[in-house]
Amino acid sequence: MRIIVEKDYHAMSKKAALMVASQITLKPDSNLGLATGGTPLAMYDKLIEMYREDEVDFKEVQSFNLDEYCGLEADHPNSYHYYMNDNFFNDINIKKENIHIPDGSAEDFAEECRNYEESIKNARGIDLQILGIGSNGHIGFNEPAENLNVATEVVDLTEETIEANSRYFDSKDEVPKKAISMGMATILKADRIILLASGKSKAEAIKRTVSGKISTQVPASLLQTHPQITVLLDREAASLI
Ligand code: GLP
Repeated sequence: MRIIVEKDYHAMSKKAALMVASQITLKPDSNLGLATGGTPLAMYDKLIEMYREDEVDFKEVQSFNLDEYCGLEADHPNSYHYYMNDNFFNDINIKKENIHIPDGSAEDFAEECRNYEESIKNARGIDLQILGIGSNGHIGFNEPAENLNVATEVVDLTEETIEANSRYFDSKDEVPKKAISMGMATILKADRIILLASGKSKAEAIKRTVSGKISTQVPASLLQTHPQITVLLDREAASLI
C-alpha cells in the first residue's frame, strides 16, 4: 500500500485529480471507476477546472460507478445518477453512452447486477478505481459482514450507513434500505485503486484499513491485498496511523 498524506481536504483532492488526469493522459480511453459521497466532490471540481483549461480530455473515457440506491429513479435528486451528472458529467465532455451507473429503478435487480458486471468485463475492466470509505470501513456499499459479495449484487445497508447518509436526505426514513453495489472482486480487479479519506470521522476506519488484520468486518482492509493501491488522505484522516 502506498500511503500519501496531504495537509488538508483541498490538497488531497487536487492530488487525486492530478492522478486521474495523468491516467487519462497515459491512456485516453481509460475506464474509470467512480465514487459518490462528499469526499470526491472537490476532486471532481478540480477535474472540471482542468478540463476547461484543456489539461484533460474525457472524450474517450468510460466511467463505471460503484453503486446506486435501489428504488430511486435517475432524476431523483438523491440518486447517484443525479449526483454524477450534477457534480461532474454535465461539466465535462464524457460521452453519454460511455457512462455506466447501476440502474436503481430496474425492474429486475438480479438481471441488472449481472448486466452491470458484464458491461465492465466487456469494456476490459477498470483501469483506475476511485474509492471513498464509510466510517464503518465499507467501500462501495460492501458493508461489514461475515461474508462479502464477490460480484455486483443488491445489498442491505446497515443502520450506521443509513444514519451517515441521511445527511443528504430530508429525513432518515427517506434513505433507501438497499442498494446495488459492485462486489469486492469487481473492485479488486481494477488495475489501480485510489482510496480517498478526509476528516477525523474516517481516522478509525483508515487505521483499521491500513494497519489492522484483513477482515470482512472491515471491507476496506481487503485492499491490503491489492498490488497497486494508493491511500490518499488528509492529516485528520491519517491522525491514527
Ligand atoms: C456512501 C457510498 C460510498 C462512500 C461513502 C462515504 O455510502 N456508497 O461509496 O465512499 O458513502 O461517503 P462520504 O464521502 O460522504 O463520507
